[in-house]
Amino acid sequence: MAQTVGFVPTMGALHDGHLSLVKKSLAENDLTVVSIFVNPAQFAPHEDLTSYPRTLPKDIEILENTRSPGAGSCETRYPAAVFAPTANEMYPSGIVLEIAEQKGAFVEVKGFSHQMEGQTRPTFFRGVATVVTKLFNVIQPTNAYFGQKDIQQALILKRLVTDLLMSHPTPQNLHIVPTGRDLTDGLALSSRNLYLSPAGRKVAPTLRQALLAAEIAWNGGATKHETLVRAITVMDAAIRRAHREGLTAGIKLDYIEMNDTKTFEVLDAQARKTEGSTVILSGAFYVDKTAAHRQYSAG
Ligand code: PAF
Repeated sequence: MAQTVGFVPTMGALHDGHLSLVKKSLAENDLTVVSIFVNPAQFAPHEDLTSYPRTLPKDIEILENTRSPGAGSCETRYPAAVFAPTANEMYPSGIVLEIAEQKGAFVEVKGFSHQMEGQTRPTFFRGVATVVTKLFNVIQPTNAYFGQKDIQQALILKRLVTDLLMSHPTPQNLHIVPTGRDLTDGLALSSRNLYLSPAGRKVAPTLRQALLAAEIAWNGGATKHETLVRAITVMDAAIRRAHREGLTAGIKLDYIEMNDTKTFEVLDAQARKTEGSTVILSGAFYVDKTAAHRQYSAG
C-alpha cells in the first residue's frame, strides 16, 4: 500500500506550537516532512526579513528529538526529512520584495487577502499562497498541517487548494490544528515572540484575554458591536494596568474584528450568534515592534 506523507511547512525558529503540528503529522502519516524556509515573498520591504530568526542547526536538532507513536501502531515515528531550500531554488526567476519589480509566477487568492491581517499586510497572503503552492508541488503531501493562530492563512490555503483543484493535499486533508500556547499565561507560541522585550512579553497575552472575554460575550448572545466593545474594554484596562505597573512596552492595536468564515466579510454590527454557526473572531496588535496575532474562530 502507498505510504502517506504528512507535511508541516515552517519558517524555522521552531517552538512547541510547530512541534504539536509535527507530532500530529507523525501520528497520522507513515512519513512526515518539515520544511524550513524564510519566504522572502511574504515580507513587505519595510518588514523584518533580514532580522527574522534563523536557527537551522538548532531546528534540525529539535526535529531529530521529536517523536510520536503512530496512531493505532506501536511504532515510534520521527520526521523522515527536512526540506530547507535556498531562495534561488524556490524562486528560479529571482525574488525581490517590491511587487512592481517581481518577475515570474505568483499565486493570488483574490477577494480573501485584504481583510483582517491583510488590511495592514496587503501583499502577505500572495507571498504565502505562492510559496505554499511551490512547497505542495515539491512535497506532494497526503496531509498538510497549519496552526489555527493564523486562521486567515489556513482558510486562504484551503481556498487555494480547492480553487486550483489540487490533489496533494486535497482540501479535506489540509488540517487546521489548535493554537499552541504558553502554559502559564496563554500567549500563542510564535517565532516572533523572540523579539519581545521583558515588558512586551508581559503585556502580550492581553489580546488573548480580550478575545476570550469577547468570545464569552458573543456566545452569551451579545451583538457583534457589543462583543467588540467588550474586547476593547478588556484590552484598555489591561494596558492601563500595565502602564501603572511601569511596563513601558509600546502597544498599538492593529485590528479586532468578526468575519464570516466562508466569505471573510465583516459581520454586521447588529449580528448575533445563530445556532450551529461559526465566525472568525480575530485581532492583532503590535507590542514593541512585534505583531501579536491571536486569531481564532468563535463557536
Ligand atoms: O506560517 C508560516 O510559518 C508561513 O506563513 C508558511 C506557511 C510556512 C509559509 O511560508
